[in-house]
Amino acid sequence: MKITKICCIGAGYVGGPTMAVIAQKCPQIQVTVVDLNEERIAAWNDENLDNIPIYEPGLDKIVGEARGRNLFFSTDVEKAIDEAQVIFISVNTPTKTFGKGKGMAADLKYIELCARQIAKIAKDDKIVVEKSTLPVRTAEAIKSILDNTGNGVQFQILSNPEFLAEGTAVQDLLNPDRILIGGDSTEEGAKAIQSLVDVYSNWVSIDKILTTNVWSSELSKLTANAFLAQRISSINAMSELCEKTGADVNEVAKAIGMDSRIGAKFLKASVGFGGSCFQKDILNLVYIAKSYGLNEVADYWEQVIIMNDHQKRRFSSKIVQTLYNTVSDKKITFLGWAFKKDTNDTRESAAIYVADDLINENAKIAVFDPKVSRKKILADLDYLESRNAENNANAILSFEDPYEACKNAHAIAVLTEWDEFAQYDWQRIYDSMQKPAFVFDGRNILNRPALEKIGFVYQGIGS
Ligand code: NAD
Ligand code: UGA
Repeated sequence: MKITKICCIGAGYVGGPTMAVIAQKCPQIQVTVVDLNEERIAAWNDENLDNIPIYEPGLDKIVGEARGRNLFFSTDVEKAIDEAQVIFISVNTPTKTFGKGKGMAADLKYIELCARQIAKIAKDDKIVVEKSTLPVRTAEAIKSILDNTGNGVQFQILSNPEFLAEGTAVQDLLNPDRILIGGDSTEEGAKAIQSLVDVYSNWVSIDKILTTNVWSSELSKLTANAFLAQRISSINAMSELCEKTGADVNEVAKAIGMDSRIGAKFLKASVGFGGSCFQKDILNLVYIAKSYGLNEVADYWEQVIIMNDHQKRRFSSKIVQTLYNTVSDKKITFLGWAFKKDTNDTRESAAIYVADDLINENAKIAVFDPKVSRKKILADLDYLESRNAENNANAILSFEDPYEACKNAHAIAVLTEWDEFAQYDWQRIYDSMQKPAFVFDGRNILNRPALEKIGFVYQGIGS
């Protein structure tokens, strides 16, 4: 089937950028991204491209080129489903906060709602594509809902997980390492797979488009995230050992990364990984393993999360200990709140947990992040429910200017690896701070010898 109309349900971090790139690369296909969130859709439609709801380098240009031509953002979910031949489901799949599997399993409520809505609306055959990250065998549940509640039309379900990383979403989408498409081995399944292959092959070379069965595709996404996160927890575990032994984790990472079997990427020790997916997906994997009685498999992967929690807590404890065991009423400046550079996303950012620990110690946290608003910072802390909103608001000072944020601080903690932090006038910052002036570099991005020369007491991760 030649695809001319695509609908994507969910205009979030994945749906928005992914569909913008498909629309840019396939001007012959009409792409409509729908969402229940009116504010989000209005922002995607904002004439001023600075106001689109997701900050990703290069995304504004792509949206600007395709929007109104063959890329549309709308709240009219039913119409978009009705018209499309292919429907991507790209809604959120958060960790369950209630009932069986609370704190571990993926909450598939939004996925099921999409499936029921597609079944209700569809009056001709549709290809339904799982773009969200889902537990292995979710396609079975989607198929059952579609077949049992639909209007007698045929549905093919494909799994097409997304591997983009935030901050580099546009580059990752334009030049993916691979596109993974899982589908049924039947003739109809093979046709559906081919239709999606034809969409991607407008800009991705065919040897990078991998087709598998549905379950392999679903499980490959959870596996990829588990392996990536595991590398970070592994190097972070070594960072603590480095601090005790005089080894330097940057040197260790370089030394092992030059082994082509290990590879150099994703070996940067840090205050701990954040982001909306690593923790959620590993917890989900642990839950799935346990549900099959595979306790050793579950324990193995759970350790990645345990190590990451330890790394965040270790960072806040180190700050308290170094500041003479009290941070009460001391101003501690956070450079960065986002979970990584080049994004305004703060979900599960290590900064939230480090701030929470320090606020428990009565510290005042001054935050400067080039892309994150005070409103977002307070919402992140309120979500933890450690204290009431008023107490959070009293503990957080936010600044538009990094130098103001650092003025009179007892310590600076780098929580996000924004490039600009390394370029600051650190002498000016030093002069404005309380002495001794401490820097806790949770990302190892600052120039340690230069800072020590100025007079800072510098502590990085793993050295
Ligand atoms: P998101 O929360 O940014 O966006 C999801 C959107 O879906 C929201 O705007 C929400 O309003 C909308 N939505 C929910 N239910 C809906 C419904 N029934 N009808 C219409 N709209 C609905 O989430 P995201 O970060 O884009 O992630 C989506 C999925 O992609 C998740 O499964 C995630 O694990 C996966 N993923 C995310 C990333 C990432 O970098 N964020 C990368 C790869 C995969
Ligand atoms: C990650 C994966 O990299 C994507 O392939 C995947 O599609 C996505 O999750 C997802 O499924 O949501 P993302 O979370 O956007 O992407 O960003 P990463 O670059 O993976 O960084 C995650 C966290 O790990 C960040 O907090 C980052 O600072 C940290 N990190 C990363 C390290 O601490 N050290 C490293 O070496 C790399």
